[in-house]
Amino acid sequence: MCGIVGYVGTRNCVPVLLDGLQRLEYRGYDSAGIAVLDGGSLSVHKRAGKVADLRAMIDHGTIHGTVGIGHTRWATHGIPSDMNAHPHLDCSGSIAVIHNGVIENYASLKTRLQSQGHVFRSDTDTEVLAHLVEEQYGRSGRLDHAVRSALAQVTGTYGLIAMSTRDPEMLVVARRGSPIVIGYGAEEVFVASDPSALVQHTRSVSYLEDGEVAVVRRGGVETKTLDDVQIRKEVQQLTFDLEEIEKGGYAHFMLKEIHEQPETIANALRGRLLAEEGQAKLGGLDPALGTLDRARRLILTACGTSWHAALIGEYMLEQYARIPAEVEYASEFRYRNPVLDGNDAVMLISQSGETADTLAALHEARRRGAAVLGVCNVVGSSIARETDAGVYVHAGPEIGVASTKAFTSQLTVLALITLLLARRKGMSPSEGRTLVAALQRLPEQAREIVAAGEAVASIAREFAHARNFLYLGRGYNFPVALEGALKLKEISYIHAEGYPAAEMKHGPIALIDENMPVVFIAPHDGTYDKVLSNIQEVKARKGRVIAIVNEVDEQIRSLADHVIVVPPTLDLLTPILTIIPLQLLAYHIAILRGCNVDQPRNLAKSVTVE
Ligand code: G6P
Repeated sequence: MCGIVGYVGTRNCVPVLLDGLQRLEYRGYDSAGIAVLDGGSLSVHKRAGKVADLRAMIDHGTIHGTVGIGHTRWATHGIPSDMNAHPHLDCSGSIAVIHNGVIENYASLKTRLQSQGHVFRSDTDTEVLAHLVEEQYGRSGRLDHAVRSALAQVTGTYGLIAMSTRDPEMLVVARRGSPIVIGYGAEEVFVASDPSALVQHTRSVSYLEDGEVAVVRRGGVETKTLDDVQIRKEVQQLTFDLEEIEKGGYAHFMLKEIHEQPETIANALRGRLLAEEGQAKLGGLDPALGTLDRARRLILTACGTSWHAALIGEYMLEQYARIPAEVEYASEFRYRNPVLDGNDAVMLISQSGETADTLAALHEARRRGAAVLGVCNVVGSSIARETDAGVYVHAGPEIGVASTKAFTSQLTVLALITLLLARRKGMSPSEGRTLVAALQRLPEQAREIVAAGEAVASIAREFAHARNFLYLGRGYNFPVALEGALKLKEISYIHAEGYPAAEMKHGPIALIDENMPVVFIAPHDGTYDKVLSNIQEVKARKGRVIAIVNEVDEQIRSLADHVIVVPPTLDLLTPILTIIPLQLLAYHIAILRGCNVDQPRNLAKSVTVE
């Protein structure tokens, strides 16, 4: 949520900043702006709209500077407009600040600063930071001291960069709650909210922790706490390649990521299956195995698509590992005074590892003494770093705002965790081997589904103008109904609801008429016959049925208007396959409706505000 970049070095920073913003645009795309130190003064360009609009407005020959910052915004305070775009300046125009997060006490700070004569130009919370730094600069005479003193007055979250004409060789970077990564080159340093903006320049990075402030100069970086205590930062190497964050011939990141799933599922499994023992090996979970064996209950908590993965994880873990499991929205969990203590374990599931509510749930769980475990995609992310133990899903960078490959990788890892714990709780070796064999078949089965994607595209053409959609499934595929509906509404703006198929009779059935497409997720599992009855109920009311099935039997042929066949697998693994056609359906419908699937309106990839 909001992308930020900074550069101090020897080359002209304008292209570096614009390219970095382009890569970060999935974090927010309401407006974009840069500030560059050009001949002793700040050259600031910003406007509502996409990074491409900013690029078009900049006359590339005329701005030149070796120190600069850039921002792409996801609006929280103040509408998307030129005026509210970052960077924000102090009264004198000599200090520029970009910020990701929310300054919670901005209103009282703004009132005080205004009463002292500061003139505000925007409606944002961020602008108070520029004026606070201005105020403190007068007292301390150094940008880093001024930023530290300003932050001492602030409550809320921030990942920020400040620069000033009075300390021209320096960027000051600070973090509380919003990620910051620093990349080291030769005689140049890069700052960003996400490594994807840096990887084309350097692989050597360090991550700022909460409460740290870094002074970034061409020759190096000095990091201190807010209280001025020096810290030594470890430099790590980024392991992903540039190709992984480019479209590679696909029209959209989302389509590329859907098609990557045969590989990403394989990557989630790689090196983790012990075929002969019928067991899984998850080194990252080792430190927590004793705790998990003893745990009274396991609470899975997450947001969005990751929350849907958690629901499926609950079904898997209860059925096979017999661990009492519960699923909570992270945003609810942290505020409802949960009964939780050292006998419980809490598992945070997050693609980005940075979602503010999930991170806050982690802190709440830890405060109450529970063991905290993570299932994350982004290596080195806040949640991955702060948990006691965990498993990476290894899906590679996910750029499309609507999560696809991260979801199937999360499910694959949850199945591995289930296998590992179930075998420790009495699952027989032969049952374990059956599960291992089924997991091993998944990548090939996913490949078959994406290869048959054209059939889904033709169904999409028939339904692209629908105003509503209903998604129904049972058991393991009830959360798939939720996720299928979420995909469609996120990117096509069609209203869609997911329901447990039998619950339809308690409300949604009233909506069914000849205009209502109903997607049934009906693999040949233990609930198949029941779902067939639900399909009958929809057909009796003239609903139009699209069914995801394992085979086209007589009944389904006579009932469904369209069928999409996916290969059969064990019940607990069906969601990993049944969701793929639903991702494709949402994608194709959104394209037919002319929507921007990679950057759907109002959404952001990583929600780092509450
Ligand atoms: C945002 C994204 C979703 C994602 C959710 C949780 O809403 O648009 O795709 O599922 O955040 O994100 P996380 O990174 O914690 O999985």
